[in-house]
Amino acid sequence: MPEKKQLILNLFEMNTVSHITHGLWTLPGNNRHRFDDISYWLELAQLLEDGGFHGVFLADVVGAYDTFRGGFETAAREGLQLPSNDPLLVIPAMAAVTRHLGFGVTFSTSYEPPFTFARRMSTLDHLTRGRVGWNIVTSYLPNAARNFGLDDEIPHDRRYEIADEFLDVVYKLWEGSWDDDAIVADAARGVYADPAKVRYIDHVGENFRVAGPHLSAPSPQRTPVLYQATGSPAGIEFAGRHAELVFTGGRSAADFRANAARMREAAVRHGRDGSDLRFVVQAGVVVGRTEEEAADRWRLYQERTSIDGILAHSSFPIDLPALPPEQTIGAALDAAGVPHSAVPYLAPDTTVGEALATVRTSREGRYFVAGTPEVVADEIERWLDEDGVDGINLRQYHSFDTARDFAELVVPELRRRGRLAERPAEPRTLRETLFGAGPRLPDAHPARRYRGGAALEVPREALRFG
Ligand SMILES: Cc1cc2nc3c(=O)[nH]c(=O)nc-3n(C[C@H](O)[C@H](O)[C@H](O)COP(=O)(O)O)c2cc1C
Repeated sequence: MPEKKQLILNLFEMNTVSHITHGLWTLPGNNRHRFDDISYWLELAQLLEDGGFHGVFLADVVGAYDTFRGGFETAAREGLQLPSNDPLLVIPAMAAVTRHLGFGVTFSTSYEPPFTFARRMSTLDHLTRGRVGWNIVTSYLPNAARNFGLDDEIPHDRRYEIADEFLDVVYKLWEGSWDDDAIVADAARGVYADPAKVRYIDHVGENFRVAGPHLSAPSPQRTPVLYQATGSPAGIEFAGRHAELVFTGGRSAADFRANAARMREAAVRHGRDGSDLRFVVQAGVVVGRTEEEAADRWRLYQERTSIDGILAHSSFPIDLPALPPEQTIGAALDAAGVPHSAVPYLAPDTTVGEALATVRTSREGRYFVAGTPEVVADEIERWLDEDGVDGINLRQYHSFDTARDFAELVVPELRRRGRLAERPAEPRTLRETLFGAGPRLPDAHPARRYRGGAALEVPREALRFG
């Protein structure tokens, strides 16, 4: 019998109060308000490590949500990603109290230069012994652009062009600047590193000029595991070239499959093996010891959900709660002078009242389940086998109940069913944990061409892919 497909299990986090489940930080016993205390991260890391999670995934934005109602007031009131702290800096703390847990961290290619970022990630890969991944984003908030000297967002496809060159620079630093055997640490001869095995990268491109050498020596994975979330044609092309693990959604199984197929085709176009990609969906799981307990929790979470938070997070173009419930969305948008295309997911004849009801559960699509551990495990097996999902990024309704309940109730059930392996005795790098092969990028990945300094001499134009 073929081996059963294994689940990749991540917790979705952010170094903030209200990440995506707005309003729920107010639930009794929720620890979200402790996010700026280091003990929060230590407790969480230990819980996830002991509970059998493969990783924690840290989202990030570098601006405030200040479009809804024309300012950041709603975001501040809701704790909606404001305040928020740097996600990279909590990783060493979590790594110090764990041996196996992986860390996926979000960083944008649009605003900060690649050289310092490459160094920070190498440092983290060393300190965690190869347990870091990078969620590559190009950033979408207008306010973020204004924090870095720009008047407005860089146009969408242009962001991906910059990102492409950013990746080229960091690959040269991570893969090409140092050979594996450069560090000799020969105290007798007084030689730490062999300079013949370290090189400049001399990158000169349209957006960046970087001499190198990379300041960090090769870390266990060299290039961190590359994550990306996307749906646009430019983003899919980018994922096909670079990403190893893709966060992709879909309101339905058909949506998910179509997205995954597009990304696999893009990977093949870039000379990679489509089956090298893994797909992780954001999932909501509300588990109870009984059906009733799960249903009660889910009811409570819905009751406490903040509509204002969701609307501000989605930069909704009009103030829905302030409008008469019987007015249609079409009429409301017309009155505000906003084109209907700004909310493509709501038909113009939907009333404001109906729209508000939809918004409350807008994040719970195909990848949501509430029930007993058996019901939850049945559903997760369906996602794995019927849809072709490789893993889940678990949305937190309550910190730490969501993770603890999953660990205590669902993990043992998934293990019984052969969907989650017991932890290996010795820690592995994140890439080994996720893909089973070695700690380094597979040979077909474009970054590999820089190994040993190869291709560094070739002008960038000659290296353009596709
Ligand atoms: C599960 C998931 C997590 C994401 N996390 C972040 C994030 O932390 N920071 C960010 O700026 N964008 C994040 N995004 C947004 C993506 O980076 C991207 O902007 C979005 O998916 C649209 O991409 P596209 O324009 O290429 O389709 C996330 C998207 C998804 C689906």
